[in-house]
Amino acid sequence: MAQAQGTAHWDENHSRGFLDNGRYFVPERERQIGIIADLIPQPAPGNLLVELCPGEGLLSRALLERFPDCHVLALDGSAQMLEQTRATCRDQAGRLTTAAFELAQRDWRRFAEPPHAVVSSLAIHHLDGRQKQELFADLAAALKPGGVLVVADIVRPPTASGLDIAARQWDEAVRTRALAIDGDLAAFAEFNRLGWN
Ligand SMILES: C[S@@+](CC[C@H](N)C(=O)[O-])C[C@H]1O[C@@H](n2cnc3c(N)ncnc32)[C@H](O)[C@@H]1O
Repeated sequence: MAQAQGTAHWDENHSRGFLDNGRYFVPERERQIGIIADLIPQPAPGNLLVELCPGEGLLSRALLERFPDCHVLALDGSAQMLEQTRATCRDQAGRLTTAAFELAQRDWRRFAEPPHAVVSSLAIHHLDGRQKQELFADLAAALKPGGVLVVADIVRPPTASGLDIAARQWDEAVRTRALAIDGDLAAFAEFNRLGWN
């Protein structure tokens, strides 16, 4: 996916819209979650995995299922998203901690124990370039030796033609998902109405 503009402020209306539409608007979502989990080296029992901005909690749930001896800390700025994450992960509630945070702040980057992995999808683009550099440096310092940071996110193509190609591919992906999930293009119409692309 491509990002045409800089950071955008996220509020609870965005959370509601994303909870309703994420399954249509995120191309190859299930594959993305699987790839992120695949990229985490086998953790030791009791290791901490951190998800930044879990949204509805699908990736956190996948990590809890894939690594049954690990604990997941899920941090998000939206109360609605944290509530949904807890609901999504209710079967593993004993190994999940959720907490509110502001992604751009640095206070939360001091963890009780060094994480084996920090993961995030479709959220770090809310930071500007300097904030991203600061985040990556802070997380590199916080991780356990051998730990990983795994990020799936949107990027800004450097040229207008690259942006055009990415925009067409995203349209196509959302059309395909709308048809596959519902058998009609209502979700694609909503994608256009909301101006996501
Ligand atoms: C597009 S959703 C992605 C959710 C999930 N990671 C996924 O891939 O489905 C962006 C998430 O980032 C969170 N978020 C956005 N900006 C944030 C910020 N500045 N601080 C904390 N959370 C933020 C939102 O609440 C939301 O859960």
